[in-house]
Amino acid sequence: MPQPLTAVLIGAGQRGYEAYGPYALAHPDEIRFVAVAEPHDVRRARFAKAHAIPPERQFRTWEELFAQGKMADAALICTLDRQHVGPTIAALENGYDVLLEKPMATTLVDCVRLVQTAERTGRLLQICHELRYTPFFSILHDLVASGRLGRIITVEHRENVSYWHMAHSYVRGNWRNSRIESPMILAKCCHDLDILFWNLGPCRRLNSFGSLIHYRPENAPPGAPERCTDGCPAADECPWYAPRLYLEIVPLLHVARRSPVLWERLAATFVLKYPGVAELAKRYIPGLATALDYRGWPLSVISEDTSPQARLRALETGPYGRCVYRCDNDVVDHQIVNMELENGTSVVLVMHGHSHQEGRTMRYDGTRATLFGYYYPTEHEIQIHDHLTGEVEIIRPPIGPLGGTGHAGADAQLMAAFVRAVRDPSYALTTARESLESHLMAFAAEEARVTGTIVSMDDFRRRAESMQ
Ligand SMILES: NC(=O)c1ccc[n+]([C@@H]2O[C@H](COP(=O)([O-])OP(=O)(O)OC[C@H]3O[C@@H](n4cnc5c(N)ncnc54)[C@H](O)[C@@H]3O)[C@@H](O)[C@H]2O)c1
Repeated sequence: MPQPLTAVLIGAGQRGYEAYGPYALAHPDEIRFVAVAEPHDVRRARFAKAHAIPPERQFRTWEELFAQGKMADAALICTLDRQHVGPTIAALENGYDVLLEKPMATTLVDCVRLVQTAERTGRLLQICHELRYTPFFSILHDLVASGRLGRIITVEHRENVSYWHMAHSYVRGNWRNSRIESPMILAKCCHDLDILFWNLGPCRRLNSFGSLIHYRPENAPPGAPERCTDGCPAADECPWYAPRLYLEIVPLLHVARRSPVLWERLAATFVLKYPGVAELAKRYIPGLATALDYRGWPLSVISEDTSPQARLRALETGPYGRCVYRCDNDVVDHQIVNMELENGTSVVLVMHGHSHQEGRTMRYDGTRATLFGYYYPTEHEIQIHDHLTGEVEIIRPPIGPLGGTGHAGADAQLMAAFVRAVRDPSYALTTARESLESHLMAFAAEEARVTGTIVSMDDFRRRAESMQ
């Protein structure tokens, strides 16, 4: 039995603490966190406590941690987008293998720099493109590669961001403004572009359209105050009314109401109908407590203390209680990217933030069959409609109750793959250079959208390399 991999965590926020920390706790024979860097005292302390990291291995910043030299096999970099480059280069230069959150970086030149540093130092640099590790996208990839659909002629891939996730992350939250973090096509769709590249190969040229239509001051209801909690006259009609999202957790109950698990469906429907009896009912209805006591993302983002009182305080004072029409947001709420691939396939990527539920849907039309894919938190289904026989095969890749934890289990699968790849790089499903391609497509799409041009990917790749 090999010794567990040792790792340091840079950034013990939502992803570091909630997505990757739990994997190490559940699999102590595979990976163990031995140090943490995190400036926020509460977050640093809670991670250190959960992983039994001694005080001398707790640091306020990545600079302090890496100044100690190499103290583990791997580094997980989970800082915000604009803070990826410094710690990743320091980790690679210090001999760590690195798991880096997506997007790699927020500029083209920095993405290329990271790839070149990984290649020069000979270290593993894996980007957290967790979709590749899901049963759904693995099956889709294998189906396309098998030739079962024939030659792929067109693909429509949709990233349907729910109205509440849009408001949480891209209107009120960290990714609302491209001058603060990333443009939405990079932040949200580098995953989708990675899947398209993985399945279909490189893009030859693309154009893109999109804008911010809805979340603007001129669309605010009459009399809407700066904050939902300041007595908004539109509270009953507004789907984004913050107490409904974060205190009554209505979107989560809607997810539970679509669950394939009967008790989750019944319990959620009951509470949506009789919210006043929720606390009493959860004592008697098995499973209801699980849904109502849920405290993970996005609730854990608005406040480290997730008690109802603390969440209300966060809405009264913090960014997540702001009226969605009165934020400092500038990222689009819809964007399409039209792509011509090198193999001739035409692809349309549609991203928007107005979906009833979160999820990706897709259609692949090949010369032998048409494929439909539905990747929702509580429903994963692939249909293959065969041209010759007219038969329809339905595949339902596995998911857990309520969609499983951490991206329907994908975060855990990504960690398992990273551990294997550090031990034996031949297990790596992808490389930093391959991940660069999805980022190049995202930057090219943003340039095409802003300038109204068609971007040649060869020119774009050459430009990226020549920036060094
Ligand atoms: N793979 C995915 O699907 C996925 C999903 C969500 C977010 N992300 C990405 O994960 C990254 C982290 O997002 P998050 O939501 O966890 O953000 P977060 O703000 O919750 O966590 C980032 C943490 O980094 C810490 N930090 C800041 N400066 C630091 C420093 N100098 N040294 C060490 N730590 C420092 C912050 O205090 C914070 O706790 C982002 O790049 C985001 O885009 C990826």
